[in-house]
Amino acid sequence: MKSLANKRILLGVTGGIAAYKSAELLRRLREQGAEVQVVMTRAACEFITPLTMQALAGRPVCMELLDHDNETGMGHIELARWSDVILIAPATANFIARLAHGMADDLLSTLCLATDAPIMVAPAMNRQMWCNPATQANISTILQREINILGPGDGEQACGERGPGRMLEPGQLLQAVGAIFENAMLAGKHIIVTAGPTREAIDPVRYISNRSSGKMGYAIARAAVEAGAAVTLVTGPVALPVPEQVSSVKVNTAKEMHDAVLSSAGSADIFIAAAAVTDYRCQDVAEQKIKKTGQSLSLELERNPDVLAAVASLGTPPFTVGFAAETELLKDNAIRKLEDKGLDMIAANLVGDGLAFETDDNALEVFWPGGSLSLPTAPKEKLARQLIHTIARNYYEKHSNKAH
Ligand code: CTP
Repeated sequence: MKSLANKRILLGVTGGIAAYKSAELLRRLREQGAEVQVVMTRAACEFITPLTMQALAGRPVCMELLDHDNETGMGHIELARWSDVILIAPATANFIARLAHGMADDLLSTLCLATDAPIMVAPAMNRQMWCNPATQANISTILQREINILGPGDGEQACGERGPGRMLEPGQLLQAVGAIFENAMLAGKHIIVTAGPTREAIDPVRYISNRSSGKMGYAIARAAVEAGAAVTLVTGPVALPVPEQVSSVKVNTAKEMHDAVLSSAGSADIFIAAAAVTDYRCQDVAEQKIKKTGQSLSLELERNPDVLAAVASLGTPPFTVGFAAETELLKDNAIRKLEDKGLDMIAANLVGDGLAFETDDNALEVFWPGGSLSLPTAPKEKLARQLIHTIARNYYEKHSNKAH
């Protein structure tokens, strides 16, 4: 999956020896589907040729602020508006100083002033220069303006010294760029997540329930917060702390979960049903503890409301995502649930025999009308982020909207 598909990245290259790594960074950004416009300072051209960068970017490199040809095509203001993110790698001490002072004496510094896109800076310099109070003061100034500082790393330097000042590796920078898009992905959206098991009383001391630990649902709630959403977690009884910034509603029974979800589902943007809801409840709950009088005991059970199906059949339902916990025929059962319940998406996983319930790892097969995605075994935290990403993409596709 290309994590940066359709993203427009302006890659600024300034004059440091680490500029040779920018070529690899550029190649990897393109590999992930990004459109990349390279802007080089004059000094950068002493370290790596614009021709190399042009060939890798598949478009000419911009260098001059007052370039007659460019200003009639994509001028500096258009370029600033075009960018989804500006990544400056490497960023020299000199460039960071100019950024801190709001200089606009070349194309790259001007773009940084003219854009409202997030700016990410990957410093690269000799350790002494990095530690110098002047550089540190400049870093602290740009940090206050919410410019993202990536690194620098610590280690062997081109000048033969060891210490902080190495530019982060292209793979690390790539991850940071990916994260910036993920973070804003669901800003302003309200997501309801159900998690954990429900419990149906048999008598005052016994209940019917299942082995759900709630870990997957809680990880999803956390990932949704990371993606900028406002999250309501409707949770059955589990032994997990409520994640930060999540508002939680604690319930016991399926009926309580149904009522809590339905009270706000109409105004939610996305509903994710990760709970293992108990399908049946006792028709009559004994008022006193049941005594063992006979050789067998029969309990009359009745169906619980289906929370997910109820949300999906609302007049204007949120984007509705179900889970399918199966012990066999994963795909068939999942697709049947997707269709029967009228869902936008379903995430299916095998359960039982050390899989899914009460474990930290899981694997998901995700289906939606016209598509599917396999998310191989990984910690639930990681899977949750991947799932949130997939949900966001499909949500925006359905609403034919741009992520932010
Ligand atoms: N679900 C729900 N309310 C119920 C039962 C299930 O909201 N009363 C949701 C679950 O949270 C899950 C999806 O429906 O997102 C599928 O749950 P699952 O237990 O796999 O399937 P069921 O619909 O209960 O069907 P079956 O038990 O026959 O497999």
